[in-house]
Amino acid sequence: MQHPIGLRQVLDDAPRLLPLFQERTRGLSREEKGIRPSELFFLFAAVAGFAPERIIESGRARAQSTLVLSALFPGAQIISIESDAHSPDVAVAAERLRDRSNVVARFGDSRRLLPGLVRAGDVVLIDGPKDFRAVKLALGLLRKQKPRAVFVHDLWLGSTARNFVDRSLPSAFASDAPEWVRNYSALDFTTGRAPDFPAGARIVYGATLACFPATAENYQVHLLRCALAQGLARLRTNAARFRTVREHDRPPDFTVIA
Ligand SMILES: C[S@@+](CC[C@H](N)C(=O)[O-])C[C@H]1O[C@@H](n2cnc3c(N)ncnc32)[C@H](O)[C@@H]1O
Repeated sequence: MQHPIGLRQVLDDAPRLLPLFQERTRGLSREEKGIRPSELFFLFAAVAGFAPERIIESGRARAQSTLVLSALFPGAQIISIESDAHSPDVAVAAERLRDRSNVVARFGDSRRLLPGLVRAGDVVLIDGPKDFRAVKLALGLLRKQKPRAVFVHDLWLGSTARNFVDRSLPSAFASDAPEWVRNYSALDFTTGRAPDFPAGARIVYGATLACFPATAENYQVHLLRCALAQGLARLRTNAARFRTVREHDRPPDFTVIA
C-alpha cells in the first residue's frame, strides 16, 4: 500500500499548489450552497500529487463541487451521482456542466451504485448521504473497493458522526484543522480576507470536509463500531424526544372537576 495521505503532508504541499488551484478555478461561476473553495482546495492539496484518474462524487445538486473538480483535474474523469432526478437543481447542474467533457453525470442512490463503481486508486467525494450514513459508505468502500481516499462533507465539529470519527479513526483529518482555517479560509470570502480567528483556537468552520485516507486499518472493525455509534446516537435522540413529549403531555398536578 502507498503511504497514506496525512494532514502534515497536505499542509506542506498546499502553498506550492495554491497558485495552480487559483489559476484553474478562476472565472468559474459559483453556487453559494455548494462545497466551499477552501474545502475543495483541501481535497486538491491532498490528492493532486498522485493525479487520480477518476474522481467519483456522490451528491451533485447544483454541481458546484462537480464543476470545480472538473476544472481542477482536467486529466481525470469525474463521475457524479445524484439521487434526486426530479429536483429543480437538475437543470441548473446540466446547464453548468454543459461544456465539461470530463464529467459523467448519473442518477441513482450512491449507497447502491458506488460499491459496483469504485475501483482501487479512485478518489471519492461524498456530499450526500450525510452523517453516519456517509461515514459508513466511506468505510465500506475503503474496506472492499480500496479507493485511495474518501472525502466526506458536512462532518462539522461537534456533530455525533464527527465525534465518532475523532474518537475512532485516528488517520482521518479535516479541513477545520486550525492551521488550514487560518491559512486558507480567505479563499471563501470575496474580499480575500478571513475573519480574525483567535490564535490556536479550535474553530467550527463551515460544513467541513473530512479526509479518510486508505490505510492498512481494519475497516470491518471500524464499520461495526460506526454502526454501534449510529445506533446509540439514534437511541439518545429518541429518548430525548420521548422525554420532551412526556413532559409536555403531563396532566396538571391537580385538577378540580366539581
Ligand atoms: C449538499 S447537496 C450537494 C452539493 C454539491 N456537492 C455541491 O457542492 O454543489 C447534497 C446532494 O446529495 C444528494 N444525495 C443525498 N443522498 C444521496 C445518495 N444516497 N446518493 C446520491 N445522492 C444523494 C441530494 O439529493 C443533494 O442533491
